[in-house]
Amino acid sequence: MQKQSNSPRLIVHGGAWNIPADYHAAHLAGVKAAVEQTYPHLLDGASALDAVEMAVQVLEADPTFDAGRGAFLNAVGEVELDAIIMDGRTLNFGAVAALQNILHPVGVARQVMEQTEHNLLVGAGALDFARRSGFNELPPEELLTERELEFFRQIQNDPAFRTHHPFKEGPGDTVGAVAMDKAGNLAVATSTGGTARKLPGRVGDCPIVGAGAYADNERGAVSATGWGESIMKVLLSKTVCDAFAAADAMAAARQGIDTLARKVNGLGGVIGINAKGEYAWAHNTPYMAMAYAETEGAIKISIRARTN
Ligand code: GLY
Repeated sequence: MQKQSNSPRLIVHGGAWNIPADYHAAHLAGVKAAVEQTYPHLLDGASALDAVEMAVQVLEADPTFDAGRGAFLNAVGEVELDAIIMDGRTLNFGAVAALQNILHPVGVARQVMEQTEHNLLVGAGALDFARRSGFNELPPEELLTERELEFFRQIQNDPAFRTHHPFKEGPGDTVGAVAMDKAGNLAVATSTGGTARKLPGRVGDCPIVGAGAYADNERGAVSATGWGESIMKVLLSKTVCDAFAAADAMAAARQGIDTLARKVNGLGGVIGINAKGEYAWAHNTPYMAMAYAETEGAIKISIRARTN
């Protein structure tokens, strides 16, 4: 289904977790920059697919977030990145997982979707494909921040630390964007460094279609953030897209988060746009950073505190 729409939509998130107060300003600035730099292109007629890739690239380049530069370190002190992009017109998607040394995994995911017969490439194969597609391979320290190195040192040998703790108790966040273009087409992209001290090779919800992202022009598009091991069990993004069929946008997002909490004791958040162009968001983490363009073009930014 493709609907005529004169007013494009764009919503982004910078993660759902226990964002400490002294991180709020950087998170707000980051999500605002992603909308500010991308929304004018949507107004000029850019596709939803181009818009979500563009917005996520802004967030991947920002060391504030757990995606691209600034990502968490895994259990051996390395950065491994996951990303997905999905086209609501065709349900086609591209994804990469456990990709190292590339600043913009979302761009590689798009190339997987458009240049291969496949949907998901992982590890060394994904890196080899990125190189052959012309992506710049960076030295590992280029993606590393002092903040994450320090956090890694703190938790490295802590027997009590669990990878889901940051969603309640410490640093961590994925990024994502959902857009509807002037033609009414929907797209979504999500990108992450995953969880802190994850085992090498661990893949979370982000690049799993229906979990970290889903887009279907007939229903809507959703990007998820939070504790991946819980999100993938309920295919959170697809669950919310399905709920768009019978509930209004915000209620559908709430239903998805309720399912996450009730069925698997999960922690996370979602942003989305339904097929009518209505925005949706919900989370059960202490905070979620997000920004969206109002229909008249003004940008709303917020660190949303949990209300339930
Ligand atoms: N939601 C990001 C992850 O768990 O990998």
